[in-house]
Amino acid sequence: MTADTLRKLYLEFFKSKGHAIISGASLIPENDPTVLFTTAGMHPLVPYLMGEKHPAGTRLVNVQKCVRTGDIDAVGDASHLTFFEMLGNWSLGDYFKKEAIEWSYEFLTEKLGFSPDKIYVTVFEGEDDIPADEESVEVWKSLGIPESRIFRLPKEDNWWGPAGQTGPCGPDTEMFIEMDKPKCGADCRPGCHCGKYVEIWNDVFMQYNKREDGSYELLKQHNVDTGMGLERTICMMNGLETVYDTELFVPIVEKIKELSAGRPSDEDAAVRSERIIADHIRTAVFILGDPRAEVRPGNLGANYVLRRLIRSSVRHAKALEIKEGYSVKLAEIIIEEYKAAYPELEEKRDFILSELSQEEERFAKTLASGQREFDKTVGALLKHGQNIISGRLAFKLYDTYGFPLEFTEDLAAEVGLEVDREGYNAAFKKHQELSKKGEGVFKGGLADHSDKTTALHSATHLLHKALKNVLGDHINQRGSNITADRLRFDFSHPAKMTPEEIQQVEDTVNKVIEADLPVTVDVMTMEEAQEAGAIALFSGKYDEKLKVYTIGDFSKEACGGPHVERTGGMGRFRILKEESSSAGVRRIRAVLES
Ligand code: SER
Repeated sequence: MTADTLRKLYLEFFKSKGHAIISGASLIPENDPTVLFTTAGMHPLVPYLMGEKHPAGTRLVNVQKCVRTGDIDAVGDASHLTFFEMLGNWSLGDYFKKEAIEWSYEFLTEKLGFSPDKIYVTVFEGEDDIPADEESVEVWKSLGIPESRIFRLPKEDNWWGPAGQTGPCGPDTEMFIEMDKPKCGADCRPGCHCGKYVEIWNDVFMQYNKREDGSYELLKQHNVDTGMGLERTICMMNGLETVYDTELFVPIVEKIKELSAGRPSDEDAAVRSERIIADHIRTAVFILGDPRAEVRPGNLGANYVLRRLIRSSVRHAKALEIKEGYSVKLAEIIIEEYKAAYPELEEKRDFILSELSQEEERFAKTLASGQREFDKTVGALLKHGQNIISGRLAFKLYDTYGFPLEFTEDLAAEVGLEVDREGYNAAFKKHQELSKKGEGVFKGGLADHSDKTTALHSATHLLHKALKNVLGDHINQRGSNITADRLRFDFSHPAKMTPEEIQQVEDTVNKVIEADLPVTVDVMTMEEAQEAGAIALFSGKYDEKLKVYTIGDFSKEACGGPHVERTGGMGRFRILKEESSSAGVRRIRAVLES
């Protein structure tokens, strides 16, 4: 089965069960400052899991691009990837455990053709005040899964979420397929990582909200959130050993082999390098190709992750004697392969290719001098019988030569040395404090529906429109990030704003706030939204429904909400800073003062 067939099969199956097919969201979360990337299909849906009304209804299904870097060191084994596609279906206060499990079972057995006796499941065994999930056990049994193939596991295994630090979460039931290979030992069971039982799907029953203080409260509505990894499923469906053997990776890995002029004698290391290059460049292409955000390699946050991915791939390319310029060649293949499902990659082709080649070049320039500095220090350390590279040096390599910490750690490990990570972190923090004075503490996230974040969310709409009024219609949102303390808004504009322009924008927003305009919401299709003159930065399907918030006669913008009911009482809007974010993109930080 191909990836394309699986995507279609999944969407159609849940459509036949009353689900609306919705578009996947941006890889860069809008308005959630607690995470750098979208890590699961449920992530962009957090406001709706918390009770906001979704324009497409209460049953949703989609394919979501995800990036997870928590397991980055495991990349290169059979199944870990930093980028993956997640197939997911949701109930927003609609169906619950019974239907979710029954449909999962039907899809696995009837659509994917897995034999019912190869299916094993796990359920939550209960912990603290939260009871065991016997309801799910009963549903599995009613479908014919015997008690011997149902495993009750603790929170560590059978609890999912929240995606950031706070938000919806709950017990889950995971489905595993038994592979044709021996158990690794007597204790081998679903949840064991030896490869005997491979997780294929996760149904999460989101009944709880995790608060900032770590406690849980029951959610108003009972939700279902499910996730099935596309790459892994394709791998299993085709009886392949690793995700790198799937059609998604074969052309990339083949190109890497073709470009490689030499091979280390350690075959395992060579294969690992090939996989890391393939994984990291694929992820970099998707981050660079995101339709909403403009993330370039840099030194902080998502920009740093992107830099780290590219630079780590360069290092492995060197090990395989691959010449400079390889990332662009691989990106061409990746864009070609994915452009039908993700047209944004084609649209941003030039940006993707030029950023990749610039980063490769930048790194090549400093690599040699950084390596010299590293060798010099290591020589001295070894002479004195020491085995720790100081945090200060690691930071210098990072700051001056662009060596990601992990890169230095790898180099160090090769000569039997360790890096003082704590020392590095301290040096890094000091640098960050100096260069980013005053950046608000990250709190809340998408799940934060406090009055303050809601008001800042509405202020963002006002700012967006005011910028269009003052600077011109070429202004478009390039990113938005809201904490309880401030908003941050990135937008396309070629020049620094003058003090007069800043003042004018501020005044415009404050005038609308003072006028105490009503805020209303309508559900419409993309086409209708455009006809109504709404600002809609939307790359989904034309007939997909979305919410449009109207603020008096001032602004009309498609958005998930929530927003204030009237503008009066939002406070006084003040722009703290206007600066460059990247080429052609400006960034504003602003607050609402009471
Ligand atoms: N959010 C859950 C997961 O990531 C189900 O989609 O596994």
